Amino acid sequence: MRVVLADRIGVLPLSLRFESGPHGKPMLQGAGRERWRFNLAHSRQLAVLAVSDDPAVDLGIDLEWLHRRVSSDLIRGATAAEERAFLVNLPPASRAAWFLRLWTQKESVLKADGAGLSVPPAEVVFDMPHARLRRLPSRLGSAEAFAVHDVSAPPGHVATLTVRDRWRRPIAVRSATE
Ligand SMILES: CC(C)(COP(=O)(O)OP(=O)(O)OC[C@H]1O[C@@H](n2cnc3c(N)ncnc32)[C@H](O)[C@@H]1OP(=O)(O)O)[C@@H](O)C(=O)NCCC(=O)NCCS
Repeated sequence: MRVVLADRIGVLPLSLRFESGPHGKPMLQGAGRERWRFNLAHSRQLAVLAVSDDPAVDLGIDLEWLHRRVSSDLIRGATAAEERAFLVNLPPASRAAWFLRLWTQKESVLKADGAGLSVPPAEVVFDMPHARLRRLPSRLGSAEAFAVHDVSAPPGHVATLTVRDRWRRPIAVRSATE
């Protein structure tokens, strides 16, 4: 992460200093560096890093392996009633994949805010199957400030990027593979 981030910023990797938000979200420290926004997710041997030089945004990214075991208890604990109403009507074979996509959407929203799993994912509610963010706990602000994007992931994985933009502008997402 340090190497890729330093390359994007145009500085030496060892010059980067990190600090953590109240729930552990890493941020850059130091003059001129605070404007850079980034967020990391990893799953097995893969990692994905979101980076922006726009200080008005917060980034959250999540990556999951689609063959991860998904129990009914996990689905029950992490979803709202209306999300479950959609999931229970799916054939079991596709239910896990839909749930894991929904999970990356919820977690990327919570990571954009920085609250992480200190907020129950069941309180971040999406309209299914359109993946529109419907409601959030009020301490995370307005749902309209969050733009949730599916991003391409290697086969067998699913990834979501969330950008919280206080100005609610349209955003451009570019992918780079290292
Ligand atoms: C952040 C969190 C959602 C990560 O979930 P995960 O699926 O295990 O891991 P991911 O691969 O998606 O992301 C890990 C990266 O997210 C970043 N991260 C850590 N805390 C973060 C936060 N609060 N917000 C955003 N990003 C965070 C770090 O870069 C971390 O990388 P590292 O593990 O190499 O340090 C989860 O660990 C969390 O919520 N932590 C906060 C602590 C907390 O309140 N825990 C309550 C437990 S119920």
